Amino acid sequence: MDYTKSIHKAKEHFGEILIEQLDRVDKMKLGEDWIDYTHLKPIIIGIVGGDGIGPYICKHAHYILEFLLKKEIQEKKIEFRVIEGLTIENRAKVMKAIPDDVLEEIKKCHVLLKGPTTTPKKGDRWPNIESANVFMRRALDLFANVRPVKVPELGIDWIFFRENTEGAYVLGSKGVNVTDDLAIDFKVITTPGAERIIRLAFDYAQKNKINKVTVVTKANVVKTTDGKFLSMAEKIAREYPDVQWDDWFIDIMTAKLIDPARRTQFRVMVLPNLYGDICTDEAAQIQGGVGTAGSANIGKRYAMFEAIHGSAPRMVDEGRAQYADPSSIIKGAAMLLNHIGYPDRFKKLEMALEICSQYERKLVITGRSDGTTGEKFAKYILDTIQDPNLERKWQSYQKVT
Ligand code: IPM
Ligand code: MG
Repeated sequence: MDYTKSIHKAKEHFGEILIEQLDRVDKMKLGEDWIDYTHLKPIIIGIVGGDGIGPYICKHAHYILEFLLKKEIQEKKIEFRVIEGLTIENRAKVMKAIPDDVLEEIKKCHVLLKGPTTTPKKGDRWPNIESANVFMRRALDLFANVRPVKVPELGIDWIFFRENTEGAYVLGSKGVNVTDDLAIDFKVITTPGAERIIRLAFDYAQKNKINKVTVVTKANVVKTTDGKFLSMAEKIAREYPDVQWDDWFIDIMTAKLIDPARRTQFRVMVLPNLYGDICTDEAAQIQGGVGTAGSANIGKRYAMFEAIHGSAPRMVDEGRAQYADPSSIIKGAAMLLNHIGYPDRFKKLEMALEICSQYERKLVITGRSDGTTGEKFAKYILDTIQDPNLERKWQSYQKVT
């Protein structure tokens, strides 16, 4: 067989990818400054509903945020903008991960609260366009995906720093079918890309007096990219002599997260994109399900907060969308408050959320009509926030468990 043409085409494609990625590296090396929210008036918060159950659960989180920021909204320190149009129908119509007009509106905001968006895969009823999530993370350079998971009664207090703009994801839609028989995908790790996420994890550990960072790779097999990630960790760790660190391979790491003897020793984890995706679903499941975890996507200019679960189109098709659990996106909303400079309100919302969903459980969400609705649950959280005994109540539950 003569493959000359196919090889030539694939080489050209690879060449374009290299130009794109080297350009990205150059931009990262310029080292943009972090945005300072204290000097912004107003801070613009975009609310992006997304697909499936997204608009339902997002509405409740939006309502809670408006309640907690009432004063700032009146004083014009905070402005909310509801951004329509990030739906799979629209995206399929224009064949883009995010329609241009929607992206333009998004870029006018400082932070976003985003509902889940449907990610088409080959063979779906939707065209196989790139995930809106993955595209947004890249378009806004949201390089750190920060996902805390806590289960106090099991001694679990984890925070994952998942690299969010590189790894197996950055070229996930740019693989090549060199011939009918040969499919190739690419994985990318860059020096500045690895450095900024690893540094953020070590900084977090140091600032919060957590003496343990765990780096997760598969550097024994995926030698070039994961090898670079791991050697970057070795280099950065030397700058943080007070923070101990270790490294694990992704396979054994997934096992150790369910090993009671080992897992309580993990605290701050830093991982390339796909491993972070996998470990954070596993961790969220240990906490009570993917519906219980929030996710912060942080960049130097923008930040986006979301639920870690998907859009659950089946719930909508079966007429159960009003029973969808808003806890994960409300957790995202709490992280948003912390990020823009309201740590007290973050703490309050987090305590209320924990009391309602883990301890007191006066109302329980099951996702079906035998449980409460998302609206009633959000109201329950709001009532709990306003309880003058909130902190005492929360403390007492911490003692019991
Ligand atoms: C997540 C999700 C996304 C991801 C999907 C929806 C593209 O699983 O936020 O973890 O894989 O990153
Ligand atoms: Mg995931």
